[in-house]
Amino acid sequence: MAATDLERFSNAEPEPRSLSLGGHVGFDSLPDQLVSKSVTQGFSFNILCVGETGIGKSTLMNTLFNTTFETEEASHHEACVCLRPQTYDLQESNVQLKLTIVEAVGFGNQINKDESYRPIVDYIDAQFENYLQEELKIRRSLFDYHDTRIHACLYFITPTGHSLKSLDLVTMKKLDSKVNIIPIIAKADTISKSELHKFKIKIMGELVSNGVQIYQFPTDDEAVAEINAVMNAHLPFAVVGSTEEVKVGNKLVRARQYPWGVVQVENENHCDFVKLREMLIRVNMEDLREQTHSRHYELYRHCKLEEMGFQDSDGDSQPFSLQETYEAKRKEFLSELQRKEEEMRQMFVNKVKETELELKEEERELHEKFEHLKRVYQEEKRKVEEKRRELEEETNAFNLRKAAVEALQSQALHATLQQPLRKDKDKKN
Ligand code: GTP
Ligand code: MG
Repeated sequence: MAATDLERFSNAEPEPRSLSLGGHVGFDSLPDQLVSKSVTQGFSFNILCVGETGIGKSTLMNTLFNTTFETEEASHHEACVCLRPQTYDLQESNVQLKLTIVEAVGFGNQINKDESYRPIVDYIDAQFENYLQEELKIRRSLFDYHDTRIHACLYFITPTGHSLKSLDLVTMKKLDSKVNIIPIIAKADTISKSELHKFKIKIMGELVSNGVQIYQFPTDDEAVAEINAVMNAHLPFAVVGSTEEVKVGNKLVRARQYPWGVVQVENENHCDFVKLREMLIRVNMEDLREQTHSRHYELYRHCKLEEMGFQDSDGDSQPFSLQETYEAKRKEFLSELQRKEEEMRQMFVNKVKETELELKEEERELHEKFEHLKRVYQEEKRKVEEKRRELEEETNAFNLRKAAVEALQSQALHATLQQPLRKDKDKKN
């Protein structure tokens, strides 16, 4: 379609007119249809629990959903942070909920905590990426796609009563543009009431001064604006978890029993557990899902598509063409490939030259070694010859002396034999 046609169509779009209906038509049942369809389809909700080992993550999840999820205790000596997702099918009335709980196992255990946030960020991004890949497929099946994007991150703060650790601030800062962070003070029964009040103020002050954006319960929907505004002022919630039941009066309640008394999980004078459950599950679960899709996923998608070379057209320019973007990216990729190929070829040639030079140098060194050995050998040979000659001369001299001595000896012998004969002759005479 030519650009002018497109312009004519878009410019020609008429303003919608308001009309009144003569009688009941029936599209007022749309919200009911929507509810019915959603209920049939079921819902998914994914919670990420970040907090140090043994801070009470699993206990709180069990307490929140009033069940026992299968969890394994983490060791305090994990070499790195690893994300462990578990998915459960839950049902309440006729509503099906596919709940995924992801625990950041080993968080805060390493001596060097510089990169502790990275596996968490990577996990969240990987879920966004999976969703984006599904969206970009030609045959999409988003209807029955198991959406694993994290809707809420419960950040468990250690109840020190002092301040946030730098690990907490760094991690929350890295996560705040990717996930709805709900900070909670864990094991709140271990901190006194006045200390808790000061601790909450301190935490909020530190989050603001470090520019950490935590999830704010929405106040734009009139039905929940008031309660959400009140609850925003209570953040971070100070919670206590327990699945143990204790008899208080004539009722069995979930609580933690101590020698000096009982901390009731669902007693608002004891902790903020009820507030957390109310906000997370009963009032804002859908908003958390929506914010994940419209804010965090949108940001991821935006950056990713821009990285891939896609762009929206502004009003005046030509509309965005997928074909052109694809061609441009392909060209870019091919020239990059060619550049890399040329670079590799050059590298190979240089390497061959280098090796050749090295081999030549080795050959020269070998040759020099050989010449040197040859000289040494000849010198040795000359010395041996000399020695042999000297020995031969000595042997000859020795032989001559030996012959002379033998001659003298035989003369002497001859003379000795002649002497008695002469004496006899002389006597006869
Ligand atoms: P890992 O998964 O091993 O990292 O631990 P976790 O964070 O899941 O902690 P878990 O729920 O296993 O609880 C660890 C210990 O803390 C258990 O002994 C719990 O009973 C105790 N605990 C859990 N919640 C609370 C709480 O609110 N207050 C107190 N005082 N103890 C708690
Ligand atoms: Mg656990």
